[in-house]
Amino acid sequence: MKIISCIEELRDHLRGQLRTAFVPTMGNLHDGHLSLMRLARKHGDPVVASIFVNRLQFGPNEDFDKYPRTFQADVEKLEKEGVYILFAPTEKDLYPEPQEFRVRPPDDLGNTLEGEFRPGFFSGVTTVVLKLFSCVQPSVAVFGKKDYQQLMIVRNMSKQFALPTEIIAADTYRAEDGLALSSRNVYLSAEERAEAPALFQSLNAVANEVRSGHLDIFELERQAMADLSKRGWKPDYISIRKQSNLQPPSAGDMAQGEKLVVLAAAKLGVTRLIDNLEI
Ligand code: PAJ
Repeated sequence: MKIISCIEELRDHLRGQLRTAFVPTMGNLHDGHLSLMRLARKHGDPVVASIFVNRLQFGPNEDFDKYPRTFQADVEKLEKEGVYILFAPTEKDLYPEPQEFRVRPPDDLGNTLEGEFRPGFFSGVTTVVLKLFSCVQPSVAVFGKKDYQQLMIVRNMSKQFALPTEIIAADTYRAEDGLALSSRNVYLSAEERAEAPALFQSLNAVANEVRSGHLDIFELERQAMADLSKRGWKPDYISIRKQSNLQPPSAGDMAQGEKLVVLAAAKLGVTRLIDNLEI
């Protein structure tokens, strides 16, 4: 595997490639990330991964400085997955001058759910993803459903800017007890790690209620948040949305059997976890 930090050198190596498959990450790689590498290999060749902890998507009080950085271990994992190039730019490489041009996602998609609790987050994500796409020029790029809203926003961006990159969704990779793998899980104490699967359990409980015909979504959301709070969590949201556009379903949508997804974000101690489940 070649490890490249310079944009020009990356372009030299990838010139003429017609089926490059790309997996952007922020490192601290776990089996969820590696499942994306495997899916990428099915859809293209060569596979290019990136590791870049993108300052633009962190709020002033978020964990940019202490975000786990485990570069050497990440390199070893990617080599085993047959990744051809690891693009690992420094901040100077990717942002040699202040990144003043930014992508602004549409308000209805970018300012709800995660966007409501992390202002500017999706602008930071889409700006770096557009820039990484411009460096790698991939035919396909793989994103995890773990970050459901991110996946949808990137997919819509690619479509609306007519980027030549097809966005492919990878299923959420979970530990045996149901907890979605996440780089931030390393912040959990042993006791919190044992409690953490309650988030996915709560999504399952909501999904089962909806499936069995309970249509009062506000009551379901309220109850699920109250249950988590009782267990010591601080939920930001548990929200039932339409899969098609992540907006709240109307009574008519519910009656017509619109496809739904339940999404959640909650803090356990200092760790903020997110998860979702398609209904
Ligand atoms: P990061 O959190 O490192 O995630 C990189 C990719 O791995 C994302 O597409 C994410 O959805 C996926 N992923 C993470 N955990 C997963 C799991 N348990 N199962 C399946 N996929 C999982 O998301 C980012 O980085 C950044 O926002 C990025 C897109 C790289 C832009 O900076």
